[in-house]
Amino acid sequence: MAIQYFTATSVDGFIADPEHSLSWLLSRNVDAEAPMSYQGFIQSVGALVMGASTYRWLLEHEGAEAPWPYDVPCWVFSHHGLQARPGDIRFVQGSVATVHREMAAVAGERNIWVVGGGDLAGQFADAGLLDEVWVQYAPVALGAGAPLLPRRLELSLIEVARNADFACVRYGVVKES
Ligand SMILES: NC(=O)c1ccc[n+]([C@@H]2O[C@H](COP(=O)([O-])OP(=O)(O)OC[C@H]3O[C@@H](n4cnc5c(N)ncnc54)[C@H](OP(=O)(O)O)[C@@H]3O)[C@@H](O)[C@H]2O)c1
Repeated sequence: MAIQYFTATSVDGFIADPEHSLSWLLSRNVDAEAPMSYQGFIQSVGALVMGASTYRWLLEHEGAEAPWPYDVPCWVFSHHGLQARPGDIRFVQGSVATVHREMAAVAGERNIWVVGGGDLAGQFADAGLLDEVWVQYAPVALGAGAPLLPRRLELSLIEVARNADFACVRYGVVKES
């Protein structure tokens, strides 16, 4: 089981623009059959975790009454009460290390997907729990927005692929021995 941060980003390292829009991303085509595609990645995911902004984006763009798009349990970090929606969604706060134990028990042999944002992925890295970073680089610069990974973090290159206009890169997190 690995904890993997999988996300799309602009080439200058933003996963959403300053208005939390993903129009720069969702307007582009991808090939579901290509190596390192989201569709391949999600097959091995047994639990997912996201921050409040990412959850709010999903609520706004999918609709609060729409079926939850994931069939594995999801943990949402927030210090505030967030609107619930149908699905196995567990609202939590505080230490990712504490919540990680519960997620790992549910995920079993499957992987944990850190959906975002970047600071939440960084909290997993700070706790020594982040194993991989999968980045799908869109051919655009945004200039500002939500950061990909606002941390100093050593990575090792594992895999590189092309999916339509995206450069897909898989990194391992180099952990202190
Ligand atoms: N490009 C992509 O593929 C992609 C992927 C994922 C997300 N996104 C987008 O990127 C943006 C990310 O937004 P973001 O940078 O604000 O990150 P975020 O992680 O989605 O949300 C940050 C919020 O999560 C809560 N949080 C984080 N850690 C916590 C902790 N340990 N305990 C309690 N609450 C915690 C806090 O919310 P409270 O203030 O409620 O406490 C914090 O303000 C969103 O617009 C999202 O839609 C893009």
